[in-house]
Amino acid sequence: MKNDNDLFLRACRGERGSRPPVWLMRQAGRYLPEYREVRKKVDFLTLCRTPELAAQVTIQPIDRLGVDAAILFSDILVPAPAMGLNLDFNPGPVVDPPVRSADDVARLVVPEIEQEVPFVYETIRILRRELAGRVPLIGFAAAPFTLAAYLVEGEGSRSFGQWKRMLYGAPEVAEALLDKTTETTIRYLVAQVRAGAQAIQLFDTWAGLVSAEDYAAFSLPYVKRVLTAVRAEGVPTIYFALNAAHAAHEVATCGADVLGADWRTPLSGAHPLQGNLDPCVLLADVATVRRRTLAMLQDGAGLPGHIANLGHGIFPETPVDNAIAFVETVKSFRG
Ligand code: CP3
Repeated sequence: MKNDNDLFLRACRGERGSRPPVWLMRQAGRYLPEYREVRKKVDFLTLCRTPELAAQVTIQPIDRLGVDAAILFSDILVPAPAMGLNLDFNPGPVVDPPVRSADDVARLVVPEIEQEVPFVYETIRILRRELAGRVPLIGFAAAPFTLAAYLVEGEGSRSFGQWKRMLYGAPEVAEALLDKTTETTIRYLVAQVRAGAQAIQLFDTWAGLVSAEDYAAFSLPYVKRVLTAVRAEGVPTIYFALNAAHAAHEVATCGADVLGADWRTPLSGAHPLQGNLDPCVLLADVATVRRRTLAMLQDGAGLPGHIANLGHGIFPETPVDNAIAFVETVKSFRG
């Protein structure tokens, strides 16, 4: 395995290499013409559930952009059907029926996950074979708080009012739900590692919905449980809480090897950080992409490990040349 690109895994351990490794959140997706070509033939969930195709689109950005890590092609809502709910995409996730009461929570199943979503693990096994050490493979899941937010709301939302109504009005019901999303997520991720995932990222996209105090009550303890279980499997963990700078103090105690930063946060501190170019920069021109990417790299140069990435997922309307310019700028940086 001496040809392994281990820049990413070393940065996760807090080692600075010759340059920062680089990948992009949502790097497999609609901004790539070769992805749209595959999507013409199958809907999104079928794509996630067909291992050969999911592996194919996972590798597309490795070939096209030359990034230093692959991330499993799937979605954070993929475990929802295993818990007994219907899932559709239109284009965002739709969960049916939404979980609104103690009875609804009691009905949710904590699944034998490998039997319920075998395609996830088959995709990982195919990818490890096909990547053959070219770049490491990242597995992922939603943080328990973010998964619960979708299960209660039933769809994406600006304010997640139904979820917050439960958090504030019936916290014991929310906690019972969080216990179930936590246990499901632990099983889901441990099995990903056992199938071959070499690092795990936990997406807490909606962590920023609540105050630091509520974050500390309703997200952080469950994140800690998941990260402890995943770390026991021997792989590095990345925790990405979007829009949560107001809770930075709490987030820093989560126990992840790497913290994700969005573009609102400076790249400084004692932790390896992943991030944080505003994905909107990739909607500008190549010169702007280069200038802003260089500024980000200089910002991160003092970190004990910097993984260059966007501050959130790449937009479908991003010109491919701008994504390439981002990756090339990182790869030619000697910091
Ligand atoms: O990073 C990667 O390339 C891996 C693939 C990946 C997808 N979703 C594929 C996807 C990952 C890591 C996710 C995570 C995810 N999914 C998150 C957390 C990260 C974040 O962006 O905050 C969230 C909140 C979701 C839920 C979700 N899935 C939404 C809101 C949407 C609709 C919005 C959109 O981007 O279309 C999806 C659909 C989705 N997930 C697509 C892809 C490629 C688009 C589906 C299509 O091809 O039509």
